[in-house]
Amino acid sequence: MRNSKLTRRDFMRVGGGAAALGAASKVTFLTPSFLAAAPRAVPPSDRVRFASIGTGVRGCEIMRAALACLGTEIVAVCDLYDGRLTGGQENAGKQLPTTKDYRAILDRKDVDAVLVAVPDHWHRKLVEDGCAAGKDVYCEKPMSHTVEDGFAMVEAMQKNNRIVQVGSQARSSIVYAKAHEIYASGAMGIVTAVEAWIDRNDASGAWVYPIPPDANEKTVDWERFLGSAPKRPFDAKRFFRWRCFRDYGEGLPGDLFVHLLTGIFTITGINRTPLRAATMGGLFRWTEDRDVADLVWTLYEYPEFRVALRCNLNNESPGVTKVMGTKGTLEIKNDVMTFTPQDTRPRPESYSIYGWPEKLRNEYFREWRAQHPQPEPGKFSVDAESQVFKAPDDYDYVVDHMNNFMESVRTRQPSVEDAVFGNHTAIACHMANYSYFQKSMATWDEAAKKIKS
Ligand SMILES: NC(=O)c1ccc[n+]([C@@H]2O[C@H](COP(=O)([O-])OP(=O)(O)OC[C@H]3O[C@@H](n4cnc5c(N)ncnc54)[C@H](O)[C@@H]3O)[C@@H](O)[C@H]2O)c1
Repeated sequence: MRNSKLTRRDFMRVGGGAAALGAASKVTFLTPSFLAAAPRAVPPSDRVRFASIGTGVRGCEIMRAALACLGTEIVAVCDLYDGRLTGGQENAGKQLPTTKDYRAILDRKDVDAVLVAVPDHWHRKLVEDGCAAGKDVYCEKPMSHTVEDGFAMVEAMQKNNRIVQVGSQARSSIVYAKAHEIYASGAMGIVTAVEAWIDRNDASGAWVYPIPPDANEKTVDWERFLGSAPKRPFDAKRFFRWRCFRDYGEGLPGDLFVHLLTGIFTITGINRTPLRAATMGGLFRWTEDRDVADLVWTLYEYPEFRVALRCNLNNESPGVTKVMGTKGTLEIKNDVMTFTPQDTRPRPESYSIYGWPEKLRNEYFREWRAQHPQPEPGKFSVDAESQVFKAPDDYDYVVDHMNNFMESVRTRQPSVEDAVFGNHTAIACHMANYSYFQKSMATWDEAAKKIKS
């Protein structure tokens, strides 16, 4: 685990930042729960032996996070492309048994848990077969490729009494936990609106990844990759840029909205499907080899409040989540959370009164001042100052999220982001896509467990 002590330069920089946020802002540094919880020695009986299924970009990131947790051991890797079987071992830092057939992993008695980081159209099968084989499963987001998949995955978790954790890491972030604390305290008043966005403006951000030069039908198990998707000839672009195609992914909602929704659920404590969703969007620029939008803007109706989400691949701006209440505004950007109180001090009518005759207007102001005497000199104070909470610069909430999974595996306590939670955020993504492709409102039919227009 890397050292997270802040340098003087960092402090000055943040201090400077705080100054920029207005002299009144107090900055509080948060401590990673993984560090906060004094690491305890893990007895061998508590070791979690895991295998990685899918060692592409994400598979290797979560493998490293798992190896950074105490009391874990990697025993095998599985992937469909030779280059990533090598890459997986390089990331593990040792030679390991490898296979292209995940069933060989599930048959291993020395595997307690599997980390699943494969394209979305494979998530259901790997969670169903993993749970049925008695393994606990860390499944990357978005949990499901379709609404039906989601409910089948919830059933697999419950029927086999396995730990299933979905991989949207905001759920374990100390910054979102702090935001939840403020939300739950009532300091925000009535929250009626939430908005959030993640915008990018480059080829990698648009999933137009370079294709490895050795990619061909010998090095890639194309038939297995297709799985339940429509059969078609080998296409390296579809294998390495699968997010661009509806057959394998859920576009911007499944790739990015899911993180924004997980953060919003964590701040506000909700864990349910939306009632309705309306999407506007389009494919404006990244038009080659893609059947999903490069701009998606969705309005959601939740009983508690309304949510507006945007992902635009044609303009860059840092990810922001903003929760707006009658008493305060909470904003999270780059692991910094700022709570800014609304100025709720009483103030006299300042507009319509100027349509009154002067005599009546002056009477109104006299009465108002009598009912709202000014504080004595020196006793005048603003309601409350802005508060800024910051995670350490090198804070990695994927490690906190993975540590929570490993603890659930050991303690058999439900995971912080189980299949029920993962299903709710995924359904919201499916509703955004439904509204976009059907050009209609998407309404959730709870009784039928379906989306309808
Ligand atoms: N939580 C996050 O922040 C985050 C970030 C990136 C990706 N993800 C998620 O992780 C998953 C993987 O994304 P990625 O970027 O690593 O994709 P990737 O294309 O880089 O890697 C996916 C790998 O899965 C392998 N694979 C496909 N089907 C398989 C099967 N049946 N058995 C074994 N291996 C198989 C492929 O060979 C490929 O190497 C996706 O669901 C994505 O949404 C999550």
